[in-house]
Formats: sequence, structure tokens, C-alpha cells
Amino acid sequence: MTTNRKKSTRRPRVIRTLPALKRAIAALRARHRSIALVPTMGALHAGHLALVRIAQRRADCVIVSIFVNPTQFAPNEDLGTYPRTFAADLAALTKANADIVWAPTVGTIYPQGFATKIVPEGPAKAGLEDAFRPHFFSGVATVVAKLLLQCEPDLALFGEKDFQQLKVVTRLARDLGLRTRIVGAPTVREPDGLALSSRNAYLSASERQAAPALYRTLGDCAAAIRAGKPIAGALAQGREAILKSGFALDYLEARNAETLAPLGDAKSEPVRLLTAARIGKTRLIDNIAV
Ligand code: PAJ
Repeated sequence: MTTNRKKSTRRPRVIRTLPALKRAIAALRARHRSIALVPTMGALHAGHLALVRIAQRRADCVIVSIFVNPTQFAPNEDLGTYPRTFAADLAALTKANADIVWAPTVGTIYPQGFATKIVPEGPAKAGLEDAFRPHFFSGVATVVAKLLLQCEPDLALFGEKDFQQLKVVTRLARDLGLRTRIVGAPTVREPDGLALSSRNAYLSASERQAAPALYRTLGDCAAAIRAGKPIAGALAQGREAILKSGFALDYLEARNAETLAPLGDAKSEPVRLLTAARIGKTRLIDNIAV
């Protein structure tokens, strides 16, 4: 599938209008090139770039979309202050050898009179992120559906860092019968375990120092459960540890790793631990397999 990828670094082609995007995709398809899409909101870090690398291994052409999607932010959230670093993003994508940057305006994604949204259920109603950000997954589902329809990729990459989002998008592509295969990618972390996130930039020095406790606690809980400790007890201890580290806890839960439904009695279920916690003004999420 993959052809000789150019070794030289060349600035990716930046496309800002739908007609130009459609022309570029038609040209790729005419040459029988496979396409991978990496949807992002910019402020790119090594986690995003890992998705680009995986995409490159699996497709001839990699499109990275950069769009800070207003519909997935609640009025009290950080849409206005969300980091926008287009020049640095473009430099990083040049180094990473991405092919195309799809950077639409808000007006292109949501033209005047736009009045349709996708309201996902199933994993989107698991009582995790959705319980704290009720607007979030309909914003994500609507924009991801649009990006997939616009770019018509063979595959699209999403990080396990946003595990519930990965499940919602996987369900969405299946339910709408889209041609795109959704591929999940492991979480990229700082050496001390903190999951890379554009929002880590908000952390003060002391918050940054405390932040790795979140992943450390997930690891401890997962190890305890694997060693046979009852899940409820392991979670109770984990919640206490997170609070002690200076976080306000939104949730720490064990769920079915496929559906995100609460665990049943079957011992063979795949289990995922998921957490969200706030430190200062910053909300961090993370998860781990058991
Ligand atoms: P954003 O937060 O920019 O993330 C873009 C993609 O990068 C997502 O699939 C996310 O899971 C992945 N990612 C973020 N941090 C990561 C890390 N440390 N390791 C691996 N992957 C990581 O998620 C969004 O944007 C938006 O909701 C979007 C899907 C683009 C829709 O607007």
C-alpha cells in the first residue's frame, strides 16, 4: 500500500478551502493513493506527531487537520484561551513530513445557518467525560463526521489518551457506514508518566510537579487489580491517593474496555481504568488497561 515516501522535508501543503481540499483528494484518488487523516486542534506535541508517524506507516498520504472546534467547548470552557500555535505546528509537521494540513475556518465547518448535530449514545453516554462535559461528544462527533466526509480517508488516527473519544468515534464511523477505519494509538507520555496534552501548558510549576500522580495512581490500581485485589477496594484507594496529591477528582472508574459500560460479573471482561481530575484551573484525563 505504502509507496516510496519522500525523505526530504518539505512544508506540507496548507489547504484552507473545501474546493481546494476536494481537488487535492480527487488528485490523490486518481493516482490510487491511500489517505490517512489525523484530526487535531493544533498546539501540536509529540503525542500528535506519534499519530502522524503511525499514519505514515499505513497510508501513502497523511492529512493533518487543525481546527479548534467551538462546538465541543462549553461557554465556561477554554475556547478563547485554547493555545493556537499555527506557525509552530506547521514547522513540526514539516519536520514530520506530513503531506497536507487541512486548516478550515469556523465558517467553512459551520456555515451560516448550520443547524445539524450528531448526538452519539452508547460509549458517549457512559457517565464519564459526558457527565462533566455534557455538550462535548456531540461537538466532537459532529466535527469528526464532517472531517471524515470532507477528507474521505481510508483510515483516521485517534489517541488512546482520549479513550472515550476513541470509542465514540469508532462507533460513529461504524454506525454511519463511513469508509474510514478508525485506528487507536497508545498514549505518549513525559518521562515522569504525565500524558502529553496541549492543556499541560496551563500547569504552574508546582502543579506540573504534582501532575504525574494521576498516571502513577492508575498504574498502582491496575497492578493491584491484576494481583487479585477487589476492584472496588483498589478504586477507593486510588481515589484517596489522587485527592492526597492535590487534585479535585471528577471520576476514577473501572469500565469494560470495549463498551465503557460498568463491569458485569464476567471475570474475562477487558477492563480499562479511566480518570479525570482537576489541579488548579487545569483538568487532566488519563486511562490505563488492566
Ligand atoms: P486534540 O486534543 O488536539 O487531539 C488530537 C488527537 O491527538 C486525538 O486523537 C488525541 O487523542 C491525540 N492525543 C492527544 N494527546 C495525546 C498523547 N499524549 N498521546 C497520544 N495521542 C494523543 O482530540 C481532539 O483534539 C479533538 O477532540 C478532535 C478529535 C480533533 C475533534 O475536534
